[in-house]
Amino acid sequence: MKYNYMKPLIMLPGPTNIHEETLRSMQKPIINHRGKEFHDLYSNLQEKLKYVFQTDNDIFILSSSGTGGVEFGVINFIEKNDKVVVPVFGEFSERLYRAVLKICKQVIKIDYPYGTAPNYDDIKEIFDKYAQIDVFALVANETSTGVTAWDMEKMLKVSKDKGAINIVDSISILGGVDIPTDKWKIDVHITGSQKCLASPPGLALVSVSKDAIDKYDKNTEVYSSYFDLKPYMDFHLKKETPYTPAVPLFYALDTSLELIRNEGLYNVFNRHKKCSDLFYQHAHNIGLEIYPRNEDKSVTVIALKTPRGLKASEITKSIKENFNIDIAAGFGKIKEDIIRIGCMGIINDDMVEYTMEKLSFTIEKMQKL
Ligand SMILES: Cc1ncc(COP(=O)(O)O)c(C=O)c1O
Repeated sequence: MKYNYMKPLIMLPGPTNIHEETLRSMQKPIINHRGKEFHDLYSNLQEKLKYVFQTDNDIFILSSSGTGGVEFGVINFIEKNDKVVVPVFGEFSERLYRAVLKICKQVIKIDYPYGTAPNYDDIKEIFDKYAQIDVFALVANETSTGVTAWDMEKMLKVSKDKGAINIVDSISILGGVDIPTDKWKIDVHITGSQKCLASPPGLALVSVSKDAIDKYDKNTEVYSSYFDLKPYMDFHLKKETPYTPAVPLFYALDTSLELIRNEGLYNVFNRHKKCSDLFYQHAHNIGLEIYPRNEDKSVTVIALKTPRGLKASEITKSIKENFNIDIAAGFGKIKEDIIRIGCMGIINDDMVEYTMEKLSFTIEKMQKL
């Protein structure tokens, strides 16, 4: 598919470009969310989401951004007296850590330098050290630094073998890279509509295992009403959500998941990998250094060091003004040090080539000034 470059080219690490068909599906009439049409839509979504999540577990659809999904994961499945392990390697894992801290105080934070990923040996050491750990909470892909926890399958196994619940924030990677929920024993798996699923922003999707539900059942206090699991489970039986759903976004998600199903999940993963290889190759060709350690670099978020003498925010401004391409600068303390490009959703070779050609042109022009 050739992209229509008359429109803004959204090369952010989410939200992403979305297919015309997905956009159009939001124009369908609003339906009664307690009626048969909605029940059919809900059933279709369950089936398609299970395919993408690679799970038999139920998936709860929240009308909220991804952060709501993280909140849902934290408040329902962690309680006051739990001991929780959280590797922190960037802004989103720091946010996850802080969300967990609001619920319980026994949080074992494992810090990693920015640009590197948590590794299996450290996690194993922690699980060996403590007699009991209740929850392992991991960000699979750190969007702020372009780093993926590639060791995660082994980490999740060690944690599960010790009887912990695995909570994984895969917001910027699920649907772009193979992270099979059931096979890798992810009890609570969280993503957002606006990243690799190529849907508009506004929905959080969370799969929940039986072990997680058992843990929830023992939980004496849940500090939220909107995100309390129980009403979601009760209404799920009726193929409904407890509170008014964002129906146009449900339509869009249904279409974007259909597109993934038609292409085939593994073909989608391969396309993401091929495009990320192309991104890194172009970066190398134009002399841009990759920010993360090579073995930790992400497929879905390409983080590159800002060339010396330039500011990331000036590059993103210039490429937007001149070519209508949106890319992102860094976050927090590395805001000006990196530029981040999304390799997600309907990404294709053509979009990669175009973005990198214009990025190269922009940088060259700025360096001459
Ligand atoms: C890994 C990760 N977690 C959480 C979030 C927060 O999601 P949202 O901005 O949709 O609330 C993001 C957003 O980029 C993310 O990449």
